[in-house]
Amino acid sequence: MINGVFSMNRRISKTLFCVVPISLLIVSCGEKAKEPEAPVKPIGQAVAIESPLGLPPVPIPADNPPTADTIALGRRLYYDLQLSGNNTMACANCHSPTMYFTDGRPVSTGIAGKTGTRNAPTVLNAAYQPVQFWDGRATSLEDQAGGPIQNPVEMNQKHDVMVAKLGKMTEYQDAFDKAFGKGPINVLKVEKAIASFERTLLSGNSPFDKYQYGGDKNAMSAAAIRGLAIFKDKTKGNCVTCHTIEDKFALFSDGKFHNLGTGIDANGELKDQGRYDETHLDADRGAFRTPTLRDVAKTAPYMHDGSVKTLKDVVDFYVGGGTSNPHLDKEIKELKLKGPEREDLVAFLEALTGDMPPNSGPPGK
Ligand code: HEC
Ligand code: HEC
Repeated sequence: MINGVFSMNRRISKTLFCVVPISLLIVSCGEKAKEPEAPVKPIGQAVAIESPLGLPPVPIPADNPPTADTIALGRRLYYDLQLSGNNTMACANCHSPTMYFTDGRPVSTGIAGKTGTRNAPTVLNAAYQPVQFWDGRATSLEDQAGGPIQNPVEMNQKHDVMVAKLGKMTEYQDAFDKAFGKGPINVLKVEKAIASFERTLLSGNSPFDKYQYGGDKNAMSAAAIRGLAIFKDKTKGNCVTCHTIEDKFALFSDGKFHNLGTGIDANGELKDQGRYDETHLDADRGAFRTPTLRDVAKTAPYMHDGSVKTLKDVVDFYVGGGTSNPHLDKEIKELKLKGPEREDLVAFLEALTGDMPPNSGPPGK
């Protein structure tokens, strides 16, 4: 990040600000100025990422077109334990390819056994989300990637320490130079490479996709087909209002925030304010971003706090109208669904398990 021009700028601003003779600069203004961010762009040929059946083209930011080199580098970083302070945690520990890119726990266990307060969502298809995290506090995959590295209960490694660590490894330095052009490794490059790898983690072509978009009417069971009708019927399941299905593709998320009353304790208090922490709007209390339902049969337990164990329990929760509270979404109300209809809904959710993306496991495997 530091080059001649930027360190010069810093010195000028410090001089103006502190109004001290140059010779005293270091002593008087010893604290480190925040380094300005140098623009970082991949240098290679951009590659097309193919979306599987049922998914739209993956959105790509103008300043980070994926290249073979950035994707390969991101994949390596994603699986590298050295991104954590004590070399024991990688992104993959909590978003594992053997568990559809989740960790199978109610809430995640981070470095040295420390637990967080939220369930790890799958990284599959995260590239389609307008904002990241249950509360939407990250605006892009790039913006998201740096967070867990520094988070004391996740990977607990300061960015400058990580960058210095990677810079000492010739293989990494060479891979970064190849991906972004010669220069020191910095956190922006790390974030961009990881984000590009994540944009390849697309999962579609599920039985539902083959049925809905592939013209294969035998791809889903009769129960799942009935379940789809209930899912879409606003007088029955009303699920599609938030878990959206479009004409040519389905993301199963409106990308918006809703309060279902999950995580309300016995005294009726919200344990997690969700979106409210970001916006400070009263209406956002206890609201969380609608998760995708793709691969949902493989990513138990459910909800932002992992409080619901099975898909049957999720359906029962909706049938009961969520948990009553002053901010409950107006679309959440008791559902009149008979036992077999509930089973059909579960059969439909099970038909949303897609293919695992190619080249998504640890590098070299
Ligand atoms: C200790 C476990 C842990 C580690 C390590 C971890 N994550 Fe996560 N990840 C989580 C949890 C928990 C959340 C949800 C947090 C929230 O919403 O506040 C999350 C959220 C995400 C999301 C947002 C998904 C969504 O649907 O909003 C992405 C993308 C992601 N992580 C990628 C990564 C990457 C890349 C790394 C490595 C740099 C990483 N994670 C490391 C546990 C972990
Ligand atoms: C008002 C919008 C809305 C409606 C209607 C809705 N959902 Fe949801 N759904 C959400 C939100 C928001 C969450 C996450 C809530 C949380 O974590 O607190 C969620 C979570 C889920 C989950 C857990 C997914 C995971 O990865 O944890 C499943 C499964 C699910 N919904 C299925 C359904 C079904 C089936 C219906 C219809 C019976 C339905 N939803 C109706 C918004 C909605």
